[in-house]
Amino acid sequence: MKQETVAKQRGYNVLTVTDAKEIVSHWLAGIDLANATELGLPEVDDRYHIWRVPVRSPQGSPVGEVAIDAYTTEILPAKTTRAEIITARLLRQDEQKVKRKRKPKKEYKLSQLRNTIGWGDCVDLVDDLPSDSIDLIFTSPPYFNARPEYSQYEQYETYLLKMRQAIGSCHRVLNEGRFFAINISPILIRRASRNEASKRIAVPFDLHRIFIEEGYDFIDDIIWLKPEGAGWATGRGRRFAADRNPLQYKAVPVTEYILVYRKQTDLLIDWHIRNHPQPEVVADSKVADGYDRTNVWKIQPATNSKHPAAFPQELAEKVIAYYSFKNDVVLDPFAGSGTVGAAAANLDRRFVLFDSNRAYIELMQEAVVGWKNIDPRSVEFAIAGRSKD
Ligand SMILES: C[S@@+](CC[C@H](N)C(=O)[O-])C[C@H]1O[C@@H](n2cnc3c(N)ncnc32)[C@H](O)[C@@H]1O
Repeated sequence: MKQETVAKQRGYNVLTVTDAKEIVSHWLAGIDLANATELGLPEVDDRYHIWRVPVRSPQGSPVGEVAIDAYTTEILPAKTTRAEIITARLLRQDEQKVKRKRKPKKEYKLSQLRNTIGWGDCVDLVDDLPSDSIDLIFTSPPYFNARPEYSQYEQYETYLLKMRQAIGSCHRVLNEGRFFAINISPILIRRASRNEASKRIAVPFDLHRIFIEEGYDFIDDIIWLKPEGAGWATGRGRRFAADRNPLQYKAVPVTEYILVYRKQTDLLIDWHIRNHPQPEVVADSKVADGYDRTNVWKIQPATNSKHPAAFPQELAEKVIAYYSFKNDVVLDPFAGSGTVGAAAANLDRRFVLFDSNRAYIELMQEAVVGWKNIDPRSVEFAIAGRSKD
């Protein structure tokens, strides 16, 4: 029986060496190098979900490499040899001189996106957004199968692959040097019977690796501390409280993480403050006194009768106030009841909210009526696969 290729198994859009060569040939034609070069054998690198295609001179010597995003089919500039370097190598010029040439001045990008609510798989919806159109991402994805209401993943690996696709596609739309904060915590998989042990899965640590591999730098681990009673409902720690046998000790979880990442860049954070085209907006966005000085934030959990896993608006407001300017666009790809949207509107930011569950889309559409300064008729409605409705 013919074995499935890795590209097929992973569900890539670039499936074969011919596909990869075609994409690169097209790219080389666009920079007038198609006739001056030849392509080596493309290789798929499924750790990073990319195809690497060697570029050679007509005499066969290596002059560069082009990397293609195996899912989106895009050329990845950060992992691809620059056109000037390929040219220098073909002409046997001093490539160090080319490398030393001053890089073009970066321009601050102001997003044109309007407030949007989108229904469908967030990876498809994010793929419909323009590159560099989002200024901050704050989200709380499904914690694997922590909630029976949406335990949709058969295997943990399938869940991690979905998270990788989401984190990877968000990278393209996030503006350079901007932040992606994610609320996540280890989860407990309850035991199926009395003879089996329950299992903890350290989801944050697996997601951390994915963020780094997808092109983000780690910035902070913020601890959301809930009152002690909050964790008791998990049932953890009850057995020990009764018996006090060593080895049976289990800490009652009263924290969650807010892991903060920044899209990789060589720009200093100051650059965004100094180059913002509206200095008055920067001045108006200053964080007020009474801000959190440490990485432990004490916040009461939310109670939302309409969504089982909503986080508190106070949490979203802190993240938005600390990591964005007024009028910025804040994306929540797993938006649920739309807490991030309410917080963004309250702090005069724009919002882009996606969820795959139609019921939560309706919930957000109802709620938006009450959000600060939002005319519900002005909110765009997107459906995955269709850019706009
Ligand atoms: C933890 S909840 C988010 C709750 C949200 N922070 C709030 O305050 O209401 C995760 C959400 O992700 C949604 N979801 C799960 N898989 C999705 C996908 N592939 N694309 C978009 N949304 C998804 C679920 O429907 C759920 O509402």
